[in-house]
Amino acid sequence: MGASITGWGTALPERILTNADFEARLDTTDAWIVERTGIKERHVGGTTGGLAIEAGSAALARAGLTGSDIDLLVLSTTTPDQTVPATSSAVHFALGLAGGAFDVNAACAGYVYGLVAADKMIAGTTKRALVIGSDCLSKITDFEDRSTAVLFGDGAGALVLEPGAPDELILSYDLGVDGSAQSLLFADHGGFLHMDGREVYRRAVRVEIDSIAKVLDEASIDPKDLALFVPHQANIRIVEAVIQRIGIDMEKTALVLDKTGNTSSASVPLALCDAADNGRLKEGDLVLLSGFGAGMTWASSIIRWGDRREGTRK
Ligand code: ACO
Repeated sequence: MGASITGWGTALPERILTNADFEARLDTTDAWIVERTGIKERHVGGTTGGLAIEAGSAALARAGLTGSDIDLLVLSTTTPDQTVPATSSAVHFALGLAGGAFDVNAACAGYVYGLVAADKMIAGTTKRALVIGSDCLSKITDFEDRSTAVLFGDGAGALVLEPGAPDELILSYDLGVDGSAQSLLFADHGGFLHMDGREVYRRAVRVEIDSIAKVLDEASIDPKDLALFVPHQANIRIVEAVIQRIGIDMEKTALVLDKTGNTSSASVPLALCDAADNGRLKEGDLVLLSGFGAGMTWASSIIRWGDRREGTRK
């Protein structure tokens, strides 16, 4: 039994920080930020749990479900609200979900890790899954450090998965981590994010290209057959380098980073849901997802979009 995407939803905090806000307090300019990153503004505020609840509840409403219909919650986050317990416990309780819940921390690649895990559990005995990516990077960002302050934002995105058509939701996936590169991007307990931006950039381009080539090859798919590419929303120059190398048009690429900045776990679902909200996806479309992040982790997957429910699993 394959899975099917039957609902989606997002959440962004109301407060917006523009590049002009940073110009006013740091030695930076709108021109530098836009040219180097493509980011114009980002949303900040709320909590990881609160944003996850909002996005999850919107996804449930779109699927026509209530919390008790869900028997698996996978919450991808790098910024849990507490060290213990997992933020998924609070989200599970607030949404009135059934079954189990767990957090995934694979940084900006985490959402694809979580989606793959949920898909495989639906292939087992799980009835319906809610997969949420939620992060409040503003909580671990040093707003006095111009090299990181301008990059990050907060937000959440969610998908509902239900048993669907017999063919696969996930046609191929590639998950990876290179633990020798941990020091390139890290935050200690209670501390701020530290990043070697130039080296992260270099590696991100390389691992995304390699990982995408693997999933295209595994599913025997030509980039021309993709309806949409949803990259991790970190930096427009990384996205441009990757699509040029893989051979994907910018028109087929989902981008929200100009309005959200890098929201880590929320980045891929925010861009995917934005494309869905704007009517850019139809049932059966092939969508390429790809992320990379602290660890350094990476994850790519080719999924089939659409609500292909086949009754309710008992
Ligand atoms: N405004 C003005 N100048 C700045 C700013 C700023 N906001 N930030 C840095 N600079 C300066 C630097 O101090 C440096 O000055 P110097 O030459 O006098 O030393 C100069 O700009 C160039 O700095 P670089 O770091 O070389 O600039 P680069 O072109 O590499 O761009 C950036 C920096 C945007 C951070 C880029 O390296 C990048 O995007 N890296 C990848 C980041 C990324 O994707 N991170 C997400 C990982 S996912 C996760 O898990 C959170």
